Amino acid sequence: MSRKPIIAGNWKMFKTIGEAQSFFSEVKGKAEVDGVESVICAPFTALPALVEAAKGTSIAIGAQNLHFEDNGAFTGEISGVMLADLGVKYVIIGHSERRAYFAESDEIVNKKTHAAFKHGLTPIVCVGEKLEEREADQTKEVCKVQTEAAFQGLSAEQAAQVVIAYEPIWAIGTGKSSTSADAEDVIAYIRGIVAGLYGEATANAVRIQYGGSVKPNNVAEYLGQANIDGALVGGASLEPASYIALVEGAK
Ligand code: G3H
Repeated sequence: MSRKPIIAGNWKMFKTIGEAQSFFSEVKGKAEVDGVESVICAPFTALPALVEAAKGTSIAIGAQNLHFEDNGAFTGEISGVMLADLGVKYVIIGHSERRAYFAESDEIVNKKTHAAFKHGLTPIVCVGEKLEEREADQTKEVCKVQTEAAFQGLSAEQAAQVVIAYEPIWAIGTGKSSTSADAEDVIAYIRGIVAGLYGEATANAVRIQYGGSVKPNNVAEYLGQANIDGALVGGASLEPASYIALVEGAK
């Protein structure tokens, strides 16, 4: 089965509204390549301007988090209702920075994944091991536990639409990327986990990205692996020329 490659830029806590608009005007028409899905996941404050700017383009806009409840007394939070209202298409869930700094558990990741589907958003669910887990040869077990927890209670139809981002935590923002062969090995294993839950057809439909120090000069190497369907990119997604090169590199 052919899966459409997906490059998603995760801006993290970078860019004002003006900076986001300026970035978008530079990538418009360029980070739009036939056969490649291009997604920009921006801070909440920049989302309305980006959704507006992205109208009529093939670039999708995503958020980096959501709350699992639709509304309520949750000061500082943003819900799926609100993101759908804005016209956002994707939402990153369970990024390792949220797991580490905001105590996001596997259970919360699962609730957020359900909330995304409830509101028509496509979740990009992050899984991946810490350095000490890798050194203890626990990479696959960690990914299994996180993937199974995230998918709990999803229908096969929903499961097929999930984008999984495998991000070894030690490779995030460090310049130390996993080799393409190692990433392929873990990602093929994760696809096998989905097959165990939902069967081969669903597993073959799920797109799985690699993330962790992906750059224009190594993106094609990752995307050339049989099971790697894209990349979730932090630092290298912040500059227009670099983002355009990432999308072009995924062709
Ligand atoms: O969400 C993106 C990842 O955390 C990777 O970040 O490309 O800066 O290593 P990075």
